[in-house]
Amino acid sequence: MRQKLIIANWKMNGSTVLLERLLPPLVRTSVKPVQVVVCPPMAYLAQAGALLAGSRIMLGAQNASEHNSGAYTGETSVTMVKELGCKYVLVGHSERRHHYGETDDLVADKFASIYKAGLVPVLCIGETEAERDANKTREVVLRQVDAILEKLGPCALFNAVVAYEPRWAIGTGNTATPEQAQSVHQMVREHISEADPIVARHMPILYGGSVNADNIADLLAMPDIDGGLVGGASLESEEFIDTCRAARLLRNSMEESLP
Ligand code: 13P
Repeated sequence: MRQKLIIANWKMNGSTVLLERLLPPLVRTSVKPVQVVVCPPMAYLAQAGALLAGSRIMLGAQNASEHNSGAYTGETSVTMVKELGCKYVLVGHSERRHHYGETDDLVADKFASIYKAGLVPVLCIGETEAERDANKTREVVLRQVDAILEKLGPCALFNAVVAYEPRWAIGTGNTATPEQAQSVHQMVREHISEADPIVARHMPILYGGSVNADNIADLLAMPDIDGGLVGGASLESEEFIDTCRAARLLRNSMEESLP
């Protein structure tokens, strides 16, 4: 069984005060066996790492450079985020693709740096509303996955996570229905399975886009939805803890129903 994973993406939100308010209650709450990862802005990674020290909650970065060091003003390398304690790095988030022109090719290069550093890349994929309306969801998401498969091969996905985040669901309150998300997750898993069935079977595929404590259980009840990438709802302590708890309860009830 794949481990349930809930990743908080704070985007460009937060402050030293907010970290001190949000993280200690999360550390005190046991949501075992769900793996929780928090991705604060780069500026707060060190503070977040200190607040999470000794807990089961892992630290992630929202982005990292494809270069390891050098004259790249304003960039942060995977070695740097690793040194600060990150285990996960988001790559190809739709906001990076959209606002900063990150291409599939650049996303694959960043993915390679993360993977070579021994960190877990969280590859974000997803279509716009116009692409969905034009029946291009399959074409878009598989192209985003193929950019990695073709450049790095399926083994690069072995220790990776995919996050399906339809652009029309991000920050809008319009969550994809569990059936809509499941159909894309299944399609992605089947596609990866053609390249490597073992990788496909083990790889967590998360859903992101207006996930909250009220809708996570229905999403996670789907066979190919292994967790959530949570934006807005991760910035409220109680809401995020409730979201993680809902995921934990679901997993426990599934485990209990196992023979
Ligand atoms: P929201 O949960 O705010 O819709 O954001 C989703 C997201 O982009 C997480 O990476």
